[in-house]
Amino acid sequence: MEAFNLPPLLLPFFLFALLQTSTIAAKKSYIVYLGSHSHGLNPSALDLQLTTQSHYNLLGSVLGSNEAAKEAIFYSYNRNINGFAAVLDQKVAEVVAKHPDVISVYENKGLKLHTTRSWNFLGVENDGGVPSNSLWNLSSFGESTIIGNIDTGVWPESKSFSDEGYGPIPKRWKGSCEGGSNFRCNRKLIGARYFNKGYISVVEPKPLNSSYETARDHDGHGTHTLSTAGGNFVEGVSIFGNGYGTAKGGSPKALVAAYRVCWPQTLYGACFIADIVAGFEAAISDGVDVLSVSLGGDATEFSNDLMAIMSFHAVKNGITVVCSAGNSGPTESIVTNVAPWMITVGASTIDRHFTTYVVLGNKTRLKGESLSNQILPAKKFYPLIHSLDAKLNNVSTYDAQTCEKGALDPKKVQGKIVVCVNVGDPMAKSYVAAQAGAIGIILVNYEDIGDELLPAAHLLPAAHISYTDRKSIDQYIQSTKSPMAYITRVKTELGVKPAPIMASFSSRGPNPIEPSILKPDITAPGVNILAAFSDEASPTGSPFDKRRILYTVLSGTSMSCPHISGVVGLLKTLYPKWSPAAIRSAIMTTAETKANDLNPILNPEKEKVNPLAYGAGHVQPNKAANPGLVYDLSTQDYLNFLCAHGYNKTQMKLFSNDTSFVCSKSVKVTDLNYPSISMNNLKSKEVEVKRRVKNVGSPGTYVAQVEAPPGVSVSVDPNTLKFTKTGEEKDFKVVLRRVPNNQTDGYVFGKLVWYDGKHRVSSPIFVTLTRE
Ligand SMILES: *[C@@H]1O[C@H](CO)[C@@H](O)[C@H](O)[C@H]1NC(C)=O
Ligand SMILES: *[C@@H]1O[C@H](CO)[C@@H](O)[C@H](O)[C@H]1NC(C)=O
Ligand SMILES: *[C@@H]1O[C@H](CO)[C@@H](O)[C@H](O)[C@H]1NC(C)=O
Ligand SMILES: *[C@@H]1O[C@H](CO)[C@@H](O)[C@H](O)[C@H]1NC(C)=O
Ligand SMILES: *[C@@H]1O[C@H](CO)[C@@H](O)[C@H](O)[C@H]1NC(C)=O
Ligand SMILES: *[C@@H]1O[C@H](CO)[C@@H](O)[C@H](O)[C@H]1NC(C)=O
Ligand SMILES: *[C@@H]1O[C@H](CO)[C@@H](O)[C@H](O)[C@H]1NC(C)=O
Repeated sequence: MEAFNLPPLLLPFFLFALLQTSTIAAKKSYIVYLGSHSHGLNPSALDLQLTTQSHYNLLGSVLGSNEAAKEAIFYSYNRNINGFAAVLDQKVAEVVAKHPDVISVYENKGLKLHTTRSWNFLGVENDGGVPSNSLWNLSSFGESTIIGNIDTGVWPESKSFSDEGYGPIPKRWKGSCEGGSNFRCNRKLIGARYFNKGYISVVEPKPLNSSYETARDHDGHGTHTLSTAGGNFVEGVSIFGNGYGTAKGGSPKALVAAYRVCWPQTLYGACFIADIVAGFEAAISDGVDVLSVSLGGDATEFSNDLMAIMSFHAVKNGITVVCSAGNSGPTESIVTNVAPWMITVGASTIDRHFTTYVVLGNKTRLKGESLSNQILPAKKFYPLIHSLDAKLNNVSTYDAQTCEKGALDPKKVQGKIVVCVNVGDPMAKSYVAAQAGAIGIILVNYEDIGDELLPAAHLLPAAHISYTDRKSIDQYIQSTKSPMAYITRVKTELGVKPAPIMASFSSRGPNPIEPSILKPDITAPGVNILAAFSDEASPTGSPFDKRRILYTVLSGTSMSCPHISGVVGLLKTLYPKWSPAAIRSAIMTTAETKANDLNPILNPEKEKVNPLAYGAGHVQPNKAANPGLVYDLSTQDYLNFLCAHGYNKTQMKLFSNDTSFVCSKSVKVTDLNYPSISMNNLKSKEVEVKRRVKNVGSPGTYVAQVEAPPGVSVSVDPNTLKFTKTGEEKDFKVVLRRVPNNQTDGYVFGKLVWYDGKHRVSSPIFVTLTRE
């Protein structure tokens, strides 16, 4: 339940918030997935009506009357998929599942929501402006792309969505502005819709007032993600003076549309799958080019995963779907949104720090980060106390250590800087500290978070300190009778090295559903990202924080996902005919696996990370504009993949209405023409992997260069590919075998690069070696 931006630590806070409202009762609702439509891609109003009528008839036949069915059904999905969502008893749902027209019944469950400098760091701009080789320059800032965002809605008045200088809305746009009352779209924010019925059916919020009838973002998450993907240029943006600059999205001139599917957090979730399905249905029909989806559940078999199924339908219609990998890292095999037709995005840092120093009484300086707007007088020492030493008798050690509500004794904390362990909501801690009379707070990382610093906009002077530095503070407090410290004013530091660093919270592979597809695909900036925010949310998301700011800093794969969506928007403007797979291939094969200090990308603990963390590497937008070759994929290829993955006829119907489709027997899952290679369980027998590349550059000869994973030998056949024209395709095979008598086991990594003297078309190779 790691809502919003931060790693999973907000759970206790939200549970607490929930207990206070106590208006929630659970009820079950379901999504019933039927076969195909008899209508095609452009249904008439009559077609739609007939489809909905068929839903009433079907459920009516089970419930005894069409009136009862009409009462129960809250969504009729009648455009891209054929199905409906309804409030049903579990017993009835079981009966419906057995109906011959029904392919599958899914419970309507809640999924989780998973934020100026970053575009400079990605090289599309520099300090002097836009370099001529910038993808921004080549694609006119993404001007002809429409980016849709499935999220918490949007703050329509944000300057990031100003339409100044925009021409008329393109005729191909079939969407509309249905954002509720007092909600206006414009020639940049061209569409808005909200979907709440799935949420209401389960949560039954009371009172059910107008705050549930709007696409207006009360949370900030959706405004942040959408402005990161497609926000316009807004000068002079900062958070309390930190990170000052011009805010903009990846495709600053793109058109955008918001689909609100998330509502206030509850124990059952905030974003319900029935609403998400409705959001996808609308976005596909409205005609978006890119869908940015910064949310997800736990990784699930594709046939049970409506986000995967809906994404498939979007991709089939030429829409690129970009999803966040999840914030559950660094645990292995926890990555979500792992279907091969999605782009799955991990999160890493940029070269910016919001630096503050904690100076101890013995002159030791510890580097931290903070976004607090509160400042202590320069170089004046204050008494320092560990929260455990300020514990009230009736509270647990844990609560005292982590500065939970009511844990600190105001008599002991008054006028001091208090040290708290940063587990849970950091903002709640600084509130507790401020209430108890502390004049500052030092938040020290807990072991699990290690050295990753995710500063927040605290209400009092604050510094976030790493786990490593925590020990120095502990030792210092123990070593002296009257420990003292001060916290310096926050400074924005640019050009920090190394960057990127892989975020610990970014969910890691291997792919838990289909190990033959490496996930995540790519990493992009997702730590301390500054972007637009909602006027109705506080910078901390905490109810006691009454401050309102137009731009704020957030972290999460939620923030990295729209960076890729923005880059996709640029590529889509540059190459309108490219398939979603070709666009993804360009992004992946040109990615970088080294940081700005030219050393391999590290994690916050300074250990080397691998493709299970970053996929193909860190996105390089300008290089993606000219990839040389692409690994393309068609809907047929994905269907063959699903057959090879083991799906039977019924499961295939979730993805295709083509009853004449015959699975190709010769296709193996590892043969899906993906821009990375993942071989699970390589034994002594050699295996062959098929791939096909398409020349999207000028004629030329490419030679295969291989970095073999340790203990594996790799050969490529043929190892030279000669292209005489653009658009030409060539097949090749990669043969993997174990090096004889080599006992290496576990995960090993290598690389295949096609090189023509100009383009390096790079694919990671991931092999799991198992002892026999
Ligand atoms: C399948 O869907 C396509 C596109 O929506 C449509 O043109 C076709 O008629 C449908 N086929 C069947 C058998 O329903
Ligand atoms: C791209 O850069 C070139 C060279 O600096 C310039 O001539 C051209 O006008 C630029 N194009 C756009 C779209 O900004
Ligand atoms: C709707 O009800 C909620 C919960 O009581 C309240 O916080 C909110 O201000 C109300 N909104 C409107 C628009 O009345
Ligand atoms: C501990 O005692 C204080 C003061 O008596 C009281 O306000 C607080 O609610 C108590 N906390 C708990 C967790 O019992
Ligand atoms: C200050 O105290 C800490 C903890 O005892 C110690 O690690 C550090 O070396 C001291 N610094 C100086 C400058 O003495
Ligand atoms: C298809 O596979 C699913 C999941 O394994 C199973 O529940 C279903 O019975 C199968 N259907 C047929 C027709 O074999
Ligand atoms: C196995 O191969 C790797 C790399 O090829 C090599 O570093 C390692 O020493 C070999 N191990 C043995 C036991 O031969």
